[in-house]
Amino acid sequence: MERTFVMIKPDGVERGVIGEVISRIERKGLKIVAMKMMRISEELAQKHYAEHKEKPFFGALISYITSSPVVAMVVEGKNAIRVVRTIVGATNPAEANPGTIRGDFGMDVGRNIIHASDSPESAKREINLFFSPEEILDYERAI
Ligand code: CMP
Repeated sequence: MERTFVMIKPDGVERGVIGEVISRIERKGLKIVAMKMMRISEELAQKHYAEHKEKPFFGALISYITSSPVVAMVVEGKNAIRVVRTIVGATNPAEANPGTIRGDFGMDVGRNIIHASDSPESAKREINLFFSPEEILDYERAI
């Protein structure tokens, strides 16, 4: 079983699509094994987005992600990283297919509703940044 890190970003929370996003993850058959609503600190934001430090949009990205609460999750399932990326859609909502979360709800690449890990390495790193091992729960998901 694979695990991935998923985060409903400030615009997703502010637009009231938390339930919709969680529902799509659940309906697909994925299992949510950890979840919390939180305000991201400047320090955590810098760590989470460290790979984008040199990008021109880095400053805007940090102020946006710390501007309002987010919902952080660990999602588990077979090929969870790829499956979640597929239901999330392309980074730029203008290119995301209808039927995907970003395709259905997003308009702006900087405010694109949701983040999902793009590789096993980033999933591991991001899960460890946001959750302690005790916060990740073990239970049976009914099919
Ligand atoms: P995310 O998947 O969270 O990872 C990096 C984020 O950077 C990405 O989603 C976008 O929200 C943001 N991003 C990527 N490209 C741009 C851009 N050109 N301008 C502003 N933000 C961007």
